[in-house]
Formats: sequence, structure tokens, C-alpha cells
Amino acid sequence: MGLIGRRLLFLPDAPSALASPPGRRRLLWPPLLLFAMLALWLCMVYSCAAATTGSCAPAASSSAASSPHPKLLLLRTKNPPPPPLSPGDEEDEEGGEEEEGILDGAGPGPSSSALSSFLNGSGTKRLPQAVIIGVKKGGTRALLEFLRVHPDVRAVGAEPHFFDRNYERGLAWYRELMPRTLDGQITMEKTPSYFVTKEAPARISAMSKDTKLIVVVRDPVTRAISDYTQTLSKKPDIPTFESLTFKNRTTGLIDTSWSAIQIGIYAKHLENWLLYFPIGQILFVSGERLISDPAGELGRVQDFLGLKRIITDKHFYFNKTKGFPCLKKAEGSSKPHCLGKTKGRTHPSIDQKVVQRLREFYRPFNMKFYQMTGHDFGWD
Ligand SMILES: *[C@@H]1O[C@H](CO)[C@@H](O)[C@H](O)[C@H]1NC(C)=O
Ligand SMILES: *[C@@H]1O[C@H](CO)[C@@H](O)[C@H](O)[C@H]1NC(C)=O
Ligand SMILES: *[C@@H]1O[C@H](CO)[C@@H](O)[C@H](O)[C@H]1NC(C)=O
Repeated sequence: MGLIGRRLLFLPDAPSALASPPGRRRLLWPPLLLFAMLALWLCMVYSCAAATTGSCAPAASSSAASSPHPKLLLLRTKNPPPPPLSPGDEEDEEGGEEEEGILDGAGPGPSSSALSSFLNGSGTKRLPQAVIIGVKKGGTRALLEFLRVHPDVRAVGAEPHFFDRNYERGLAWYRELMPRTLDGQITMEKTPSYFVTKEAPARISAMSKDTKLIVVVRDPVTRAISDYTQTLSKKPDIPTFESLTFKNRTTGLIDTSWSAIQIGIYAKHLENWLLYFPIGQILFVSGERLISDPAGELGRVQDFLGLKRIITDKHFYFNKTKGFPCLKKAEGSSKPHCLGKTKGRTHPSIDQKVVQRLREFYRPFNMKFYQMTGHDFGWD
């Protein structure tokens, strides 16, 4: 099943959800599941035998009917379906190839929610209480996939782009994208472009001024190069990094209107957010530390979200060849799951003078950002 296969690029899949349901519900599950399986089995036997259009299986939902593994889907309530977004929305995904995998295989499909509502035992769709708002190429996908290991986190697989591109669709549309959650579970989504969207702070505040915000930031120079590299892989004909960086190479004037440069001026974007949210309601995660010490950063994130520290060192190992941390195999899964590039993507070699000039350019903004957040990210 391609759907599951592609997900494996990143995550321990269903088995983790299966193996560790949230503790206080554990007792409820076995009889419930037994009942559900029995009901389903009866349904299928009936619908096969009757071979009528009005039978139980097609009635559950059209996509449930097309699913080859109803039992599997029933159990995989953890991951929500990807929202119905246009392919263009992948543009903002960080990390390239592997992102597309996640986007395609983000969940078991709508059938599981149809079955869930049939059972009526696996919760309600809620607006997110926490949103990863940025930044592009900062490591937001890594953070979300690490967080999904937590049994009390439920997250949308793809990027909804609600507060930037889809706002006119309304909150009901947005809520419908969300996975079902039980009491005590946190609903999350990530869309890195929110951080640089002028309207996003007011809009998220209007949804709930208590929304917790998470920003994964990374050295703006390496972020810009990574951003450019991703664009280059999709559009090989674009001008060189150097020529896009400068308005005038001779004078060294930097083109701050180029998005690859602009996104990295974190202090400026943050000012917008502070008009609507107190700084304590925004957590800044270091994209560098997420790679060098994933368990440490995840500890901070779990504290911030008010979650029990369940994700720890034990969940990770470092693959030296890849240079990325991997999630250890989940129980019942045969493979480990690593982050980082699935295919080697060579960064174009960039003139060190240009890199140096960019460092100078960002330095004052970085200093300001450290000051605002009370955190030295060590980018200089
Ligand atoms: C399912 O649960 C919801 C509340 O969570 C309730 O409003 C609804 O009536 C229930 N549906 C059935 C069929 O029991
Ligand atoms: C770049 O700056 C130099 C020096 O000020 C100037 O002579 C040249 O016309 C500028 N080029 C462009 C394209 O603006
Ligand atoms: C580490 O990464 C390399 C390169 O991607 C891969 O071939 C290898 O199987 C990985 N090893 C482990 C233990 O994950």
C-alpha cells in the first residue's frame, strides 16, 4: 500500500499509535475494538453476500468502501487525512522530497473518521490549541513528526495554509481538517508561511488568543541557501543565488524583497506577532539543536505544551552517515525512521564573499531577535 509505504520515510506508523494508546483509555479499547471488528466483519459478510448497493460497507462512506484494509484503518485513528489542497501548496513545505511523501501519505484517509464516528468513541474535531507557525526550511516538519510520537498530540499531516491562503473558507472548514481528539489531547498543525504573513497574528488571535505558537528558527544564511536550493530543484532555470541576493553586486546592496532573504529577518516578523501575543506564548525552537539534540528540544516543547515528557533520548539515535537523527523503530515496526534528505541534494557552491556579506547583513537583526526572545541562537 503506497500510502503506508511513503509515510515510513519519516515516522513510526500505525504501530506506535497501536502500541501505546493513552493510558487512561487503555481499558476501554479491547472490548470496544472487539465489538467494532465484529460489527465490521458482519457488515462485510452481509454486504458481500447481499451484493446490494444499499449495503453497509458503501454506506459508511465512499472512501471507506474503497479501502482494502478496514481493520487497519479502524485502528489508525492517530493520523488525520491530508487536507484537500492544490499541489501548489507543497511549495512551502520544507525539506523537499520527503515532504511530498508526508503530504501524500499523511494519514489513513477520511474512512477512519467515518468509522470513528460510526463507533463514536474516538473524539471530536477541535480547532488547534497549538500551531507551528514557522519558519520555512527551519525544521518544522521534523518537529511535527517528532511530536506526533507523543500519544497526546494529534496533528494534521499536510499544511492547511488556513491563515494565509484559505482564510475566507472559514473556521468550520479549518476545523474539519483537524484530526479527532479525546479530552486532554492537543490538536496541532504546521504551516511555516504563517510566520511571515502580515494578517496571520490577528487571525490566529481571533480564533483564540490562547493559541500556543511555536517557531522553529535556523541560521538565516543557511536557511536562505536551503530555501534557494529547494526552489532550484523544482525550477532549474532560476538565476544564481548571488544574482538574486544583490540588488547591485558592486555596491553590495542586498535585495530584501527576495523571499529567501526576507524570511530570515526574524526580528521584523516577530514584531508583528508581539502586537497580538505575549512573548511567553511563543516558543522558539532551534532548528540546529533539533538536529544535534532532538530530545533536549522536544523536552522544551513538551513542557511548553503542558505535556508529560514522554519523548526522550530513548526515542532517537543519530545516523552518522545521514547526519540526521532518526526515530527508533516503533514496536511492531521493522524499520527505523530517519529525518533529513532521502536523496542527496547537493547545495550549489556559493561564493564565500557573498555568504560573508549576508552574515553581516543579518547580524543586527539576529542580535535584535536574541534580545526579543531572550535566547542566543549562536548564529554568528
Ligand atoms: C456521537 O457523539 C456526539 C458527541 O460527541 C453526539 O453529539 C452524537 O449524537 C453522537 N452520535 C451518535 C450516533 O451517537
Ligand atoms: C550599481 O552600482 C554602481 C555603483 O554605484 C553603479 O555605477 C551601477 O550603475 C549600479 N548598477 C545598477 C544595475 O543599478
Ligand atoms: C543511515 O543512513 C544511511 C544513508 O542514508 C542508510 O543507508 C543507513 O541504512 C542508515 N542506517 C541506520 C542504522 O539508520
